[in-house]
Amino acid sequence: MNTLKDRFLGRSPKVAIILGSALGSVVEAVQDPLIIPYAELSGFPVPKISGHAGKLYIGKIGGKEVAVLAGRAHPYESGNAAVMRPVLDQLKAAGIETLIVTNAAGSLKTSMGPGSIMLITDHINYAGMNPLIGQHGDENFVPMTDAYEPTLRKQFLAAAKKEKMTLKQGIYVWFSGPSFETPAEIKMAQVFGGHAVGMSTVPETIIARRLGLKVAGLSVITNLGAGIKGANPSHAETKREGEKAASNMKRLLTRFFKDMK
Ligand code: HPA
Repeated sequence: MNTLKDRFLGRSPKVAIILGSALGSVVEAVQDPLIIPYAELSGFPVPKISGHAGKLYIGKIGGKEVAVLAGRAHPYESGNAAVMRPVLDQLKAAGIETLIVTNAAGSLKTSMGPGSIMLITDHINYAGMNPLIGQHGDENFVPMTDAYEPTLRKQFLAAAKKEKMTLKQGIYVWFSGPSFETPAEIKMAQVFGGHAVGMSTVPETIIARRLGLKVAGLSVITNLGAGIKGANPSHAETKREGEKAASNMKRLLTRFFKDMK
């Protein structure tokens, strides 16, 4: 059987990017892409929700080889927190060393409004699930200190500065979804020290750290959290605002890869 690496046809990306809701147009930044539908890749989930394409792009951004995953499966679609495990296992086996996770998120701070991009510095797993539950072996006691790798964070901050973009930084709180949070839950997440809330990313980061991949995370803020200044988030708003912010995300990633050693 063909491995994922065989499907790369001699290309050898070391970095993979998972694109979040409505960030699909970031694939336009991929030069000379080889495009593989997830349906052709065993273990890759075919996304069931709108705003997620379900295709793997292998090409270059900013002159560096990358694997871009346009679409992810979320634990809320099935109840399986480890739904992305087969994908990440195969990426690791194919030579990927670094994972960049992106998402759409709600902001917990009025000073970080829709359109902002937040570099994830840390996370809070509030979903009550962990993708490593049921796995056996000492390797599953994964340290989560500096889960979002400090050197990569510095590189993203430098890339943003060069592009004269504001890059916020903060803590991402994972709620399982798919319902949005209540205003009371948003207040709790603020008290807990969070800066953004969302329904993805954290399980992927945990799996990636288990596999020894370096991780960076970026949230596109599509709305204020429920109840903040009367906010009432919806999937339509997430898609609309995510699409608007995608061009800034493209610019940031392109600069990051151009300057990557
Ligand atoms: N909450 C959870 N997930 C989200 C939000 C939100 O407010 N916005 C975009 N994804």
